[in-house]
Amino acid sequence: MAEIVIRNTNERIVGDDNVRDFLEKQEVIYEKWDTSKLPLDLQTNFQLDDEQKNEILRIYDEEIRDLAARRGYKIWDVITLSDSTPNLGELLNKFEEVHIHTEDEIRAIVGGRGIFVIKGSGDIGYFNVELEAGDVISVPENTNHFFTLMDNRQIIAVRLFIETNGWVATPVQDPSFQKA
Ligand SMILES: [Fe+2]
Repeated sequence: MAEIVIRNTNERIVGDDNVRDFLEKQEVIYEKWDTSKLPLDLQTNFQLDDEQKNEILRIYDEEIRDLAARRGYKIWDVITLSDSTPNLGELLNKFEEVHIHTEDEIRAIVGGRGIFVIKGSGDIGYFNVELEAGDVISVPENTNHFFTLMDNRQIIAVRLFIETNGWVATPVQDPSFQKA
């Protein structure tokens, strides 16, 4: 189950209903996939080969097609990040910049953990969504955000896209964002 940290106040929001209510108010789609469908070796292998990635897509085919039908996604894939990813540090530095996209950014976490940092409505400011396996989240289009890993630096996620040519991240200089 995801947890929220409001960065201005350090308030932590936990519990299914509280997290859902908070994200709904922020217009962030939040859903769950059943992690028990996925064999443990696919949830804990952060160097998946193409065949293993395709197996994950096959196992979650129904969930993926349901999202695609509701939200218009046309393509999807599986990504893994871990300390075995070449240049992980460089990649994370690049990720940790506030940006927007013209389409939403949807991720289904199927292994490991990760954080979306998202700019909420005026009184809330930036908040962290700490994600674990089973969490499905969509950052709304044109909303300031970035993604990064948690301390374990391991994640497996399914990504879905509307734009088949890949989207562009547009950096945003936001003086109200504070890293620490
Ligand atoms: Fe993004």
